[in-house]
Amino acid sequence: MKINYLTILILGCCLASLFYACSENEEQIVSDCKEPVISDINPNGDSELALLMRQLYLDADSIKQLVVNGEGTISNEFIAELEQVHSAIPTDKTVKTPEFKAFNELLINQAKALQENTENKVNNFNQLVNRCLDCHKSFCPGPMVKIKKLRIINPIH
Ligand code: HEC
Repeated sequence: MKINYLTILILGCCLASLFYACSENEEQIVSDCKEPVISDINPNGDSELALLMRQLYLDADSIKQLVVNGEGTISNEFIAELEQVHSAIPTDKTVKTPEFKAFNELLINQAKALQENTENKVNNFNQLVNRCLDCHKSFCPGPMVKIKKLRIINPIH
């Protein structure tokens, strides 16, 4: 009887800590695809690709403001950053497949279409965001909610 009590107590504690760990991880899902893995490139655990993606997100957000205000469009620097996605080392090396490469090429093509287009920049920008999402759907669904927020819903111009 005594042992049973102890077993239940220990089991209870294990369950409680499991729940705690799970609810903590949910918050991280916004930026990470999976459990954070310590990479050998950055001691704080961010891969080269993750850092590049974070920069791409910020730059895409700035481009969004330019498009919304009718003040500008995508830059050559942004397209150069997209080219770096091909070679940047990811957290999970298995993502670097021919599909990954194809998704990135589609994104680069859309970026060039946006750069050349002077008429419907809002639509082209939203298409660009969709190309980000296409790859994320297959390789990294975690940040999709955040990326979707880049879409221009109510353009002023
Ligand atoms: C070719 C596939 C692909 C494309 C295209 C792509 N991503 Fe990513 N993205 C990834 C992968 C894979 C990761 C995970 C990186 C890692 O952990 O190494 C990631 C991670 C991220 C992250 C999380 C970074 C972090 O904090 O850990 C954000 C935000 C992000 N991408 C935004 C974008 C935006 C914005 C675009 C479009 C401009 C985009 N991505 C296009 C594959 C892609």
